[in-house]
Amino acid sequence: MNEKPGEKILEAVNVTKHYRMGNVTVKALDGVSIEIKHGEFLVIMGPSGSGKSTLLHLLGALDLPSSGTLLINGKDISQFDDFQLSMFRRNYLGFIFQTFNLVPTLNCLENVLVSLLPSGVKFEDEKHAVELLKLVELGHRINHRPNMLSGGERQRVSIARALMNDPPLLLADEPTGNLDSVSGGKIMSFLKDLNRKEGVTILIVTHDRDMALYADKIINIRDGKLLDVEVLKDRKIHKKHKKVMV
Ligand SMILES: Nc1ncnc2c1ncn2[C@@H]1O[C@H](COP(=O)(O)OP(=O)(O)OP(=O)(O)O)[C@@H](O)[C@H]1O
Ligand SMILES: [Mg+2]
Repeated sequence: MNEKPGEKILEAVNVTKHYRMGNVTVKALDGVSIEIKHGEFLVIMGPSGSGKSTLLHLLGALDLPSSGTLLINGKDISQFDDFQLSMFRRNYLGFIFQTFNLVPTLNCLENVLVSLLPSGVKFEDEKHAVELLKLVELGHRINHRPNMLSGGERQRVSIARALMNDPPLLLADEPTGNLDSVSGGKIMSFLKDLNRKEGVTILIVTHDRDMALYADKIINIRDGKLLDVEVLKDRKIHKKHKKVMV
């Protein structure tokens, strides 16, 4: 697999996603083609219901398109076997869900470590998880369960969890949606640093134009279709990420 900065990491070619609701078909995505290159920091913007989460889920191989092709590092995802798909999701991708998807019975630390719980957590893993929780300013909430946290705090736990496996690709659905503008700005600066210094490729869905301005490009979608792509500025990719896919 290639891992060169500037080469395509993800590509959607003419993808559609239709949901059947009784006699009605909802066209959530209608022929979208986009590409994401290694080292880019992109934002998807669009009104509520325009298909942003649907597109992000397809790009993260969390759902399948109704038609069209999705390529990861140039490889058609429909050709991936179960092992390759689970390797991609577990080792290569960090996904921050719009609805957090935290486990209610686990505390913050355990939620960050959740993907490692079945195989056993090592001392270094726990140390790393605590560092990540401190990084998102939750060092004082390690033993709290999700129902004891504010919406913004839950969102920050889900960000720490997504970073636990040191993913080269981070997809985030409204990562600042529940935060005030100062806290949201801090998270965006943190993600931008991760992109610039560590070379993590980042794709974020947001409603918020101020947050979108941290990115290199804004992909605007309307009614399930690509409207346009705004390039905010040119910049060099500093470092390629160390992880290599299967
Ligand atoms: N599982 C589903 N079954 C049926 N319709 C769905 C399903 N998921 C999404 N939709 C519909 O597809 C369209 C796009 O939904 P999506 O969640 O991608 O929008 P979005 O742009 O992320 O919106 P928001 O900004 O509110 O999160 C919407 O009309 C939604 O109602
Ligand atoms: Mg959404």
